[in-house]
Amino acid sequence: MSSILSSDSDVKTVPGQVSNSRVEVGLPQGAGETHLDQIPASRLAMRLELLRNTLRPTPHVQLAMKGMDLFAKLEYVNPVGSIKDRPAYWILKRAVERGEICEETTVIESSSGNFAAALATYTQLVGLRFIPVIDPNISSTYESFLRRICPTVVKVEDRDDTGGFLKTRLQKVKELCATIPNAYWTNQYGNPDAMEAHYELTAGEICADFDSLDYAFIGVSTGGTIAGVSRRLKEEYPNVRIIAVDAEGSVIFGGPPRKRHIPGVGASIVPPLVSHAMIDDVVWILERETVQACRELLMTHGLFVGGSSGTAFAAVKRYAARMPAYKRPTVLFLCPDRGTPYLDTVFDPTWATRLE
Ligand SMILES: Cc1ncc(COP(=O)(O)O)c(C=O)c1O
Repeated sequence: MSSILSSDSDVKTVPGQVSNSRVEVGLPQGAGETHLDQIPASRLAMRLELLRNTLRPTPHVQLAMKGMDLFAKLEYVNPVGSIKDRPAYWILKRAVERGEICEETTVIESSSGNFAAALATYTQLVGLRFIPVIDPNISSTYESFLRRICPTVVKVEDRDDTGGFLKTRLQKVKELCATIPNAYWTNQYGNPDAMEAHYELTAGEICADFDSLDYAFIGVSTGGTIAGVSRRLKEEYPNVRIIAVDAEGSVIFGGPPRKRHIPGVGASIVPPLVSHAMIDDVVWILERETVQACRELLMTHGLFVGGSSGTAFAAVKRYAARMPAYKRPTVLFLCPDRGTPYLDTVFDPTWATRLE
């Protein structure tokens, strides 16, 4: 197949999508001339309300694929650069509404990158302190980003009993919450507000753009995305099939634990949010398939996207044989972030040869 960079035949926008809308950060419609710095730091709810407009609909683009109408939802178009902008914003907003966060709060979270970057930005914008807890699997791009804007970054080094770092990170979060006054753990692995963010925002946009949908392929880590999106899509399209995409070596859906290297999809625990998801099937993808799929998305479809996008695309391709031949299905997969943080890993052929 030839390399096609956004040619008309390969990448199309869905009619009605808001792809060219102007993004005026921090200036919601109807807010007139109000800016963040005009609102006192104590008015957290108001400051967050003003930031609501940063989360504009992300585009759905069509990719050439035999036997199906395949669309990618480009979540890297979110303001800080990933799908995690939505739960980061929504969790803070809900916690403020409930009075759980005030001016004196220090927000603490364990993250492999995207969620921490989003939280770091939104906490900074509203004037809160934030301590991210990261691990050696984080991409150097995210680590640099966090170290530039957060006065304290905690990096754990020890692997847990599954070979991953998640349990070590969560233990560190516990310790910090016990010792730092007014600490607030956003708990992305169990916070129902993350699910609500995807129900309201991510899935709301899909429903606004698609008259019908047959399959949605969603990478899983905390389960927030699949829980919120699956529940809303099942309401809107009763026959849609939700396919959870996991990495080989992740334990989320009962597979045996194994060392993994690509952040984004998979976990070394079973996150509580997953139990809220309405899942029809699970596909497990090897890390070398992820690498291959990321390259294919770039070289064949002109999409420079991160590891979890490639993992979901690999799942679509593998699952295609199981889709009914009599009907051309409409299929959607999510592209949670950009390829840039993965240049030294997924997109480095030497690094990739070390994968099983
Ligand atoms: C790049 C990327 N893709 C996919 C996911 C999975 O989303 P969720 O945590 O909502 O299951 C994450 C989560 O961290 C991510 O960072």
